Amino acid sequence: MTATSRPYDPTSKTDAMDSTDATGTTDPTRTTDPAESTMPRRTADDLRATARAALERARRRTLALTDCLDEEELGAQHSRLMSPLVWDLAHIGNQEEIWLVRAAGGQDAIRPDLDPLYDAFQHPRADRPALPLLPPEPARRYVAAVRERSFAVLEDAPFGPGEDPLLADGFVFGMLAQHEQQHDETMLATHQLRRGPAVLHAPPPDPAPADAGDLPSEVRIPGGPFVMGTDDEPWALDNERPAHPVDVPDFWLDTVPVSNRAYQAFIAAGGYEDARWWSPAGWSHRVQAGLHAPLFWRRADDPDAVEGGWLRRRFGVVEPVPLDEPVLHVCWYEADAYARWAGRRLPTEAEWEKAARHDPATGRSRRYPWGDAEPTTELANLGQRHLQPAPVGSYPAGASPHGARQLIGDVWEWTASDFEPHPGFTAFPYKEYSEVFFGPDYKVLRGGAFGVDPVACRGTFRNWDYPIRRQIFAGFRTARDAAPGGAADGTADNPAEARD
Ligand code: AVJ
Ligand code: FE
Repeated sequence: MTATSRPYDPTSKTDAMDSTDATGTTDPTRTTDPAESTMPRRTADDLRATARAALERARRRTLALTDCLDEEELGAQHSRLMSPLVWDLAHIGNQEEIWLVRAAGGQDAIRPDLDPLYDAFQHPRADRPALPLLPPEPARRYVAAVRERSFAVLEDAPFGPGEDPLLADGFVFGMLAQHEQQHDETMLATHQLRRGPAVLHAPPPDPAPADAGDLPSEVRIPGGPFVMGTDDEPWALDNERPAHPVDVPDFWLDTVPVSNRAYQAFIAAGGYEDARWWSPAGWSHRVQAGLHAPLFWRRADDPDAVEGGWLRRRFGVVEPVPLDEPVLHVCWYEADAYARWAGRRLPTEAEWEKAARHDPATGRSRRYPWGDAEPTTELANLGQRHLQPAPVGSYPAGASPHGARQLIGDVWEWTASDFEPHPGFTAFPYKEYSEVFFGPDYKVLRGGAFGVDPVACRGTFRNWDYPIRRQIFAGFRTARDAAPGGAADGTADNPAEARD
């Protein structure tokens, strides 16, 4: 369990965070109104280079998350909610073999015998440690062998629009890079659950900018239709499609995610003991699970010696809970209860996406709050450059047109919405990515967190989980309806008044 490997350096050469690529030309065959376009067309060469870089970046991260632990720890189940890390490792390779090497590349199977072992639907996470899994060294050799063939497929795969839809625009390469990065994020959550001394290290984010304390608490998003989802983002996954208009009435949205300071006020006000603030399902879960604070928090032995009085465990280090960071590791029920206590509510998914994408100057939806350019280190906290969110009010350059900050990166944001298909949805390439999860059991999260790679994060990207989940890197911000003709300064119905 010693750190033997080169640490993961997300800023090294092929890092998307430092590349801007607003290149491309207009495709005359496009059917969407150009005013609604979110994506400059990209050339095949550009996409091929981006695909290679994204796959390499994902693999460096996968290896960094697994090389730092010994065989026993890689095979251990640190929580019944999570797979052993060695399962994620070989599952990444097996999915790449199935979809990239076999389905898109038309090549023969390498290890068809592994398919059932690493099929997430055949074995729930709790059962995975008991399976005859590949030990770490064979698993590493397997993922490397698959990757060698993937790069051979990438070399001469046709990317044109008339091709196999798996290959058009390099979709399958983007899909597998996103799949690996999503499992890397899951592995990061396993590291956070794991007991024992720290093995992951990263510098902290910069302190909040000077204006962070002066920001208005909320921003008003004017009512009207906007285009939700996308038709022309080449690597958007099936659940982000198609683009469709949604009318969103005026509403107010928190400028920044809810902070630990604000969340501690909810705790101190007895929010966890007051059923008024909780949905019926949330209250029974709160009682049954004994929730009293975010996951990984505990009261300081001498609360007066720690500002705010709370400690947290973060990747093996116990430290005071920083008051100006977005709250993290709360479930949907806790977010919902906080919002009600504050006299507010969670934003719907459509509200969140409108706030993050709608450009009031042109009426079109953008790829990100700041525009169409790829994320950079100045715009958002993504890519595991840090092992924590940045203080609320950070990344002014990444703000939306209406001034909301940190919609992308830092913490996943719970929305009020169930995970449902966009109208006109078609499963692609398989029903088990999204379709089997649609329905009232899952709530949508948006915006990505510090441990999300840019390839798996954009204004249309949709994540989902059970409303009880807390080990994911989730926080939230709150919203409220705008009173018709209400005061533009937000004083019309001060949320604080609703608390008593
Ligand atoms: C989109 C994060 C909910 O981890 O269950 C990984 C992503 N899908 N392998 C998950 C996923 C298949 C998925 N989430
Ligand atoms: Fe998977």
